[in-house]
Order: sequence, then structure tokens, then C-alpha cells
Amino acid sequence: MCGIVSYTGHSQAAPILLDGLSKLEYRGYDSAGLAVRNGENKTRIVKAKGRLKALAEKTDNGHALAGTCGIGHTRWATHGEPSETNAHPHTSDNGNVVGVHNGIIENYQELKNKLLRKGYEFYSSTDTEVAVKLIDYYYKKYEHTPVDAINHAMVRIRGSYALAIMFQDYPGEIYVARKDSPMIIGVENGDCYVASDVPAILKYTRNVYYIGNLEMARLANGTVTFYNLDGDEIEKKPTQIKWDAEAAEKAGYEHFMLKEIHEQPKAVQDTLNSVLKDGAIDLSSVGLTEEELQSFSQVYIVACGSAYHVGVACQYVLEDLAQLPVRVDLASEFRYRSMPLDPNGLVIVISQSGETADSLAALRLAKKKGLKTLGIVNVVGSSIAREADNVFYTLAGPEIAVATTKAYSTQLIAGYCLAVQFALVRGCISKGRYQDLISQLQCLPEQIQKILDDKERIQWFAAKQANARDVFFIGRGLDYAISLEGSLKMKEISYIHSEAYAAGELKHGTISLIEDGTLVIGVLTQSELYEKTISNMVECKSRGAYLMGLTTYGNYNIEDTASFTVYVPKTEECFATSLAVIPLQLMGYYVSVAKGLDVDKPRNLAKSVTVE
Ligand code: F6R
Repeated sequence: MCGIVSYTGHSQAAPILLDGLSKLEYRGYDSAGLAVRNGENKTRIVKAKGRLKALAEKTDNGHALAGTCGIGHTRWATHGEPSETNAHPHTSDNGNVVGVHNGIIENYQELKNKLLRKGYEFYSSTDTEVAVKLIDYYYKKYEHTPVDAINHAMVRIRGSYALAIMFQDYPGEIYVARKDSPMIIGVENGDCYVASDVPAILKYTRNVYYIGNLEMARLANGTVTFYNLDGDEIEKKPTQIKWDAEAAEKAGYEHFMLKEIHEQPKAVQDTLNSVLKDGAIDLSSVGLTEEELQSFSQVYIVACGSAYHVGVACQYVLEDLAQLPVRVDLASEFRYRSMPLDPNGLVIVISQSGETADSLAALRLAKKKGLKTLGIVNVVGSSIAREADNVFYTLAGPEIAVATTKAYSTQLIAGYCLAVQFALVRGCISKGRYQDLISQLQCLPEQIQKILDDKERIQWFAAKQANARDVFFIGRGLDYAISLEGSLKMKEISYIHSEAYAAGELKHGTISLIEDGTLVIGVLTQSELYEKTISNMVECKSRGAYLMGLTTYGNYNIEDTASFTVYVPKTEECFATSLAVIPLQLMGYYVSVAKGLDVDKPRNLAKSVTVE
């Protein structure tokens, strides 16, 4: 949510900032802006409403803005409508302090009132302008010392922020500060970079520093100096990023989403390989011992959106294989419910970005209550990865499309590996069954590839659904978990209303929405529930629904009921989500393409939801 890029060094800043912002556009795309300064000259600010393209045109791809030091921003509006005035960077009245911000300042009204009383005037409706002017106020009060000005402002600000600031008196220098919003700093050959996320600067450097919560940094002359809230210098070591720069490019695909869908066999394989040693699951890199796995009496899974759907699927798998009670919660609900938590419980927080505000808050709550925490996270060094007691890294690589696909698939793999290992050490499965489950897991990448090789049928069917008004996804048990994700993929990028329903629940109200021609997609990968779901599909058909079935090869009698069927290879039934979700991702993608929509950047959404 909102992307920040900053640069100070030997090259022209604006083209680097625009290039970095283009990699962060998934974080927000309602407006964008740059502030660049050339030596002692005054800072020049250019902003544009709409996609980054508008800003690039306005600045001749950055060439119209000379200067080697600058800050840039792409916005996802929180306070104030998307407009050029509300776009960042924001500036103090005399242009003394210029800044960009990601996050939400909760007490901005109180701070604004204070500044109004001190004679400040405001031109925008943003909380960022308040932050910039607050820093300006302390800057004037504390003898023009940027670090003191920023730390005094940090003490007053409530909420979350990643801030990048330039001061007119300090040419060539950028100051940054952060609390609960992501930010990394890169250094290479005397140049310094700041970004909200790794892909923005991957082309320029792999040496990054993670700036901690309530810390600040000064970037100047190719070096970074870190400070704590008291303004004292602190030491930090850089980390090497292993992602390659090509991973953040489209590589010939029309959209990042399609590319990422096709990367799933490799992402799944890599994640699996990271914990497979000599034919067994080895969780030593995760840091969980056998004794710990035996000791937990309850698992809580907490996440948002698709990561929550992974949690729902893993609940079935953990309960089934390891006979362990599991409770799955939306992070935004978990954090505000005062429920008793089992002190022997393990709290698993699933998050691609590792920065989702509600998931991070849920993790902190669980830690505060003394429970052991495990993050299943994709972005190395992200807040959840750093704060959880243990981390299972998914190896999906950078995920750029707003709608998740490969991160979702790798999160499932992490969940399966935990479930299988839990099951073995708790004596719920034999060694033979354990080996069998692992062999089935190892077949998944090839099976996913097989589904992708046959995507034309789904493309053809999806193109015919572009005018659908409502789509219902129904299934029981794990098939319900699959339906949840299929439905989200459909609605978030095609804007077609869709709902996922536990198939048995439909007749308790929702079936009244079924009309002539309503598309109902039945998911049937669980043999015990197959006939029951078929019956529910028939109930819909009797009321006019048009049926699609999604099942495994062999279940050909579904064609007696459904008008169109997609088959996926057979696997261990508890791993079926990994295969059945692929056609549903493709469905969502191709419907969106058929409607001519911006697949990678759906309206109103942003990747990495760093506000509550
Ligand atoms: C949907 C999607 C979102 C995310 C959710 C959590 O396609 O991508 O629902 O799954 O915002 O994000 P992370 O995993 O970064 O915590």
C-alpha cells in the first residue's frame, strides 16, 4: 500500500525513481509523484493523478527533472481522494522539508490542529502533509537538526509510517524513518537507495539493510547511518538478496499474473526442496524440533485474504493427518476478539508480504499472550519474518500481480509439510504412509505443469463467461476451501460478483439467488463427498443454473450433471487444493482478460495491505 523509492548518488535520480516505482505500482496506483534536487538548487516536485504512465509522460520519463537526489511515491489513497493535490511528495510551506509516506497517521487531526494553532496552513487532505509539517515544526525548533526533528515527530505520531524526507539545508541527503510499514535501504558503489519492497531496487543492488521499527537513517555520500529513537547511532549489517532481477520482470508474458501462474511448478518444487532432506521432511531451517511438534495441543492459523484460504485448507489437512485441533481466523477478527488461547498452542501467521497490518498485529498479540509463533512468509526480512519465533520461508520469489497465485501455492506446501511432519512425530501415521505422502508431494510440480499445458480449454470457457453477473463456487470439506480461493480469484480481477459456499449450506438461503443461466462451479476432489456435492449441483440445476464441474480424472459421470467439466490429475486427496486451484486461477485470469481489464492492478486494490 503506497510505494516509496528514493535515491541519492552519482546518477540522475528521476529515471531511477520512475523505474523503481514501476516495480512498486502494485502497491498503489491512483497517483504518483517525484521530488528531485540538483545540488544546492531548490527541490522540484512533479505529481500526476492516475497511473505512473502519466507522471512519466509529464517528466519526459524523468529526463525533465535534473538532479542526483530524489524521492518518489505511488499512492493508494487513505486520507483524501486520489488527486494531484493529495499525491505525494508533500512539502512544508517554505519548501524546507519535502517528504513521502506510506502508512496511516491515526492522530493526524490532533496534530493538524496543533500545527494550525502554530500558523501552519494546509493545501491537501492527507495525513502525510501533517507529518511533513510536523517535522518542519520540530526542525525549526531544534536548531535545524534533521534527526532531532524526525525523532520528535516520531514520538508524537500514532499509527504506521515509512517516511523518506529531504531537507533544503542538506543537499544530497535523504532521511528515512519507519514504524510498522515496510522499508529497505540498498547501497552499491557509492549510491544509496530506499524502497518499500525489494523488486524496486533489485536491478541496482542486492545489498540491503532492514531498518527496524522506530528507527531512522541518513543516506549521504554512499553510506547509511542508522539511529534509534534517542538519536544515537546504531550498527546494522547488510543482507544479500537472493532473488534475481529477471524474476521481477514479465519475461514475455502479457501479465505478471499469467507469468506467476506458470511459475508455480518451480515455486512449489523450490519450497518443497527447502525442507526435504534424504527423502524426509527436515524442519531444522524452520527451527521447530520434534519435541515442540509433540508438545502443541492446539494450532491457531491467522491470515488475511488468500493466505486465510490457505489456512482453511491446511486446517482440514492438519486435522485429518495429525489429528490436531486447528482454529483458523481472519487476522482482522482475531486481533479484536478476547478469546481464551491455549498456552500450549502454536500460532501460525501466513503472509506473502510479511507486512499485512492485521496479520502483524495478530502475531504481536499472540506473542504478548506467550504463545509460540510461526510465520509462513515469502518476503525475507519482512516484519512478520523478523518478529515471529520461527519462520518457514516460501520460495515463490517476487510476486508482483496483486492477485496472488504462486505465493498461495507455496503457502499450501508449507502447510502440508508441517501437517505431514506433525502427523509422523505425533504417531498418527506410519513410516510407510509418511513416505507415500512425501512421494505424492513430490509429484505436485509435474501435475501442476500438466494442468497448465492444457489451459486452452479453460481459456475458451472463461471467454464465454465475460458477461456473467454472478458466479457461485460450491464444495464440501477441502473443496469448500478451494471454492473460497476460486471465488476470490474470480471477483477480484474480473469484478464479477461471486460467492463461495459450503455446498450443503446453499439451501439455507443463498439458493434463492440462483436464476436461469447462473454459473455454478462445483468442486469435487474429495471422494467421500463427491455424491453429496453432485446432489447440491443438481439442486442448482433444477433452478436454472448452468453447471461447471471441477474434479479428478476418472470421475467422468459428472458429465451427466455438468455442462462443462475440468479434470485435474489424481493426488492424495488432502493435497488436492494444489491442483484444483490452478484451473480456477486461470478462469479468473482469462475472464478478466476477456473483459479487457487491468489484470495485474485491479481497481481499489493494492498488494501488501499495510493499513488496518
Ligand atoms: C488475493 C490476495 C490477498 C492477499 C492478502 C494477504 O489475491 O493476494 O487476499 O492474500 O492481502 O496478503 P499477505 O499474504 O501479503 O499477508
